[in-house]
Amino acid sequence: MTQAQLAQGTSPLLAVRNVSVVFGGIVALNGVSFDMHKGQILGLIGPNGAGKTTLFNCLSRLYQPSSGDILMEGVSILSRPPHRIAEIGIGRTFQNVALFPNLSVMDNVRVGAHSKTSSDIISDSLRLAWVRRSESSVNDKVQEILAYLKLEDVAHTVVSGLPFGTQKRVELARALAADPKILLLDEPAGGLNHEEVYVLGDLIRRIRDDRHMTVLLVEHHMGLVMSIADHVVALNFGKKLAEGTPAQVQADPDVIKAYLGSKDQ
Ligand SMILES: Nc1ncnc2c1ncn2[C@@H]1O[C@H](COP(=O)(O)OP(=O)(O)O)[C@@H](O)[C@H]1O
Ligand SMILES: [Mg+2]
Repeated sequence: MTQAQLAQGTSPLLAVRNVSVVFGGIVALNGVSFDMHKGQILGLIGPNGAGKTTLFNCLSRLYQPSSGDILMEGVSILSRPPHRIAEIGIGRTFQNVALFPNLSVMDNVRVGAHSKTSSDIISDSLRLAWVRRSESSVNDKVQEILAYLKLEDVAHTVVSGLPFGTQKRVELARALAADPKILLLDEPAGGLNHEEVYVLGDLIRRIRDDRHMTVLLVEHHMGLVMSIADHVVALNFGKKLAEGTPAQVQADPDVIKAYLGSKDQ
């Protein structure tokens, strides 16, 4: 039995409850519900425009649902501003890499570590001893993550000069540096070649196993999701189309129809 299977039956780490999002007249999400359990890799799939990024942005608090609720360990996250989700253990990457291009790899990762240890610069400056202590724990954390993701050789390189695949790894490092309980990944395979996608899949699985992470993997392409997810939720036109194991979802007639009907699979 996998860790995720063992966790079934216990209360969910994250619960999405009947979430809808309306932009002007467009219903981007329409009453979507699902649970995420500790240790799971949950794949969220669907054709372009299905509502994946909208849901992702609700989880990272960039969008406010029009109705419904999102609970982390039983507590609603909807009153929490986006810059304070790291504190409750939600870490994210962006669909298009969003690093500080002129900072080094190390400094980008340091920003991630700080988002957990210090939420307020002024209160930090009033607690200098505490800051110094936390600064050294930040350094340890940054070194550990750089080593874990094999980024030590480029630690002092400015991010903008690195290949796209490496930049994506830096983004992952930045998210991990805040020690999240849940890692939200929006189309991490986008722009990567076949070999890089395979390496990434392996890495995501390792992160789950070694670091006891729970992962929400948003992917437009089915291949990566089907090879690493324990559980898959399929969206189409803002609604949940199907949910189950990768094999169940892949065989679902509605899912097959939605993907065949889209030009961009
Ligand atoms: N900020 C926004 N303003 C207006 N419409 C949006 C916005 N974001 C997404 N949408 C619309 O919501 C729907 C779902 O989009 P999105 O969540 O980006 O889908 P996906 O990530 O699955 O491709 C689409 O019809 C899209 O045009
Ligand atoms: Mg998207």
